[in-house]
Parts: sequence; structure tokens; C-alpha cells
Amino acid sequence: MPLKFDSRIYVAGHRGLVGSAVVRALEQRGYHELLLRTHAELDLTEQAAVREFFDRERPEAVILAAARVGGIQANNTRPALFLRDNLLIQDHVIDAAHRSGVQKLVFLGSSCIYPKLAPQPIKEDYLLTGPLEPTNEWYAIAKIAGLKMCQAYRREFGFNAISLMPTNLYGPGDNFDLQNSHVLPALLRRFHEARLRGDASVTVWGTGTPRREFLHVDDLASAVVYLLETYDAEPIVNVGWGEDVTIRELAHLMAEVTGYRGDVLFDPSKPDGTPRKLLDTSRLSALGWRPSLSLRDGIEQTYAWFQAHVAGARL
Ligand SMILES: NC(=O)c1ccc[n+]([C@@H]2O[C@H](COP(=O)([O-])OP(=O)(O)OC[C@H]3O[C@@H](n4cnc5c(N)ncnc54)[C@H](OP(=O)(O)O)[C@@H]3O)[C@@H](O)[C@H]2O)c1
Repeated sequence: MPLKFDSRIYVAGHRGLVGSAVVRALEQRGYHELLLRTHAELDLTEQAAVREFFDRERPEAVILAAARVGGIQANNTRPALFLRDNLLIQDHVIDAAHRSGVQKLVFLGSSCIYPKLAPQPIKEDYLLTGPLEPTNEWYAIAKIAGLKMCQAYRREFGFNAISLMPTNLYGPGDNFDLQNSHVLPALLRRFHEARLRGDASVTVWGTGTPRREFLHVDDLASAVVYLLETYDAEPIVNVGWGEDVTIRELAHLMAEVTGYRGDVLFDPSKPDGTPRKLLDTSRLSALGWRPSLSLRDGIEQTYAWFQAHVAGARL
């Protein structure tokens, strides 16, 4: 049965970067019966609480955007926490959704599920063809288990769960913590603060040569809603922007957008991570969806949000 605008849709992780954008996109599209619970109200690592929530609220669709997420540093230092929490969250939500009769579930994975040295751009078929990037393998292993769980529940129970693999995301509501955040929000904050202090230089971790792809979270949310409504199949789907930039190019773009006029330096003694990560998005294009925001426009919009919300942002 297709979803209706009054279908009850549970967005897990609705205060996060992805979840908040998905809520905006669903509301814009006309869905008005959204079920939302904060982490404090419903801890998804607690199985009994999750089952009780699904039995009581009976959502018809679920967007699983709750996860323990962080940058290289956080992944490296808390391997047990990243593996355990993500396994528990997805296991509890997917199983409870199936048991309570949810019609459709959208699982959000990540491009870090692919082998470190996968050929570029990365096709969905390269999953499990080589070793992972060691700095975030704990998180990646959990995400691989999550997408396999969706596929297994579809095969064994006919449960309509789909899995999307977004590239690096950024946008309003991002985590701007310097220890635990991803490269784009961390750089935005560093250049912003360097401009305010009048620093002569900003030093960026690594050589500046790794290539990365960035997608604005509103574009991701638009893809989530599109595939929620139109895609019901086992194969995972990459969600990317289609092009990548070097960290050096990104750093200079950040300097321009934030108005920072000092030197941009690189520290090659710090780790670079995967040399290149660009998703092949031909499967998604064939399904009829394309992103709409350019990187510069997206960063300018995110910087405007950061400045307006700087006091309330996660600093
Ligand atoms: N950000 C990216 O670049 C990116 C890229 C690719 C894929 N993704 C995927 O998108 C999904 C969401 O990522 P995000 O960037 O939006 O992360 P985020 O901003 O950290 O949001 C995650 C949300 O999950 C909630 N959460 C964490 N543990 C929970 C628990 N035990 N019970 C209930 N809620 C819990 C958090 O609530 P609290 O803050 O209150 O703990 C937060 O609202 C993840 O699956 C991630 O793999 C993200």
C-alpha cells in the first residue's frame, strides 16, 4: 500500500544532521504525522523500550537516521562504543519495525562501508571486495551489518527495507566540535575562528591531496523522500553529489567563504585517511534523482546558518 500524507512516519535521530533535514523534507512534501523521540525519551540501544514504542505507536514507515557518528579521532579512540551502539540501534529498530508491521524502512549507511582502495568512482558492487579504512572500520562493520540485515529481512520475511549509502554530508545542524566532527564542519569553524582572531595562518591536517565528495544534507533528505516513495528493492543505493574536490581546494573555498585572508598550510605528519572517495551515483540517476545545490552555494548557506546559530551550535 503506498504511503499517504497522513501516514505515521517515525524519523529516528530527528535532532541530528540527517534526521532534522529529513523532517524538513517530509514536512515540505506534505507528510504531517511524524513520530519523533529524542535520545533521552527513547534510547534505541534499549531493546525493550524500542519494542514497546513500536507496539504502542505503530508507525507505517521508518527513516533510521539515528546512529553514533563521529570523525576519525572519535572512531579511533572509541572502537567498542561505535561498534556496539550502532549494532544495537539498527538491530532493535529494524527488528521492531518488522515485528510491528511497518510497511517501509529506510536505513542510512555510509560511504565508509566500501574498501579503502576501491576503484573510483565507487560502485555499489564493490562492497566487501577488499579491506576497510582502519580508522573507521568499527563503524563501517556495523553499517555493513545494518544493510545486510535489511537485505536478510527482505529475503526471509518480505520486509520492505531499503538501504542508502550517502557520501560525506554537511549543512545546517552539523556537529562543529573540533575533536568529533567531520572535515567540512571542522574546517568551517577553524577558518571562521581564525578570521575572528586575525590568525596569520591556518594549518590543515594531512597533505591536502586526498579527494572527497560532499553532499548538502537537504539534497540527501530530498533523495531519502524520493526513494521512500519510489524504490522497493534489495540493492543498496549510493547517494552522492557526483564530483569530488581535494582537501586543499576545500580549505581554500572555506577561506573564501569565511573571509579569512591569512595563509593556508598543511601538516603532512597527520594522517590523510583514504586517498579518494567518490561515489558512483549512476544507479540513483537511473532511478530519476539528481542533487541540486552546488558546493559553494551549500557552504555559503551552511556558513550563514553557523553564524546565526553559533551560540546554539554543538561547539
Ligand atoms: N554526517 C555525515 O557526513 C554522514 C555521511 C554518511 C552517512 N551518514 C549517516 O546518517 C545517519 C545520521 O548521521 P548524522 O550525521 O545525522 O548524525 P548526528 O548528527 O550525530 O545525529 C545522530 C542522531 O542519532 C541520535 N542517537 C544516537 N544514539 C542514539 C540512541 N542510542 N538512541 C536514540 N537516538 C540516538 C542522536 O541523538 P543525541 O545527539 O541526543 O545522542 C542524534 O540525534 C548515520 O547513520 C550516518 O551513518 C552521515
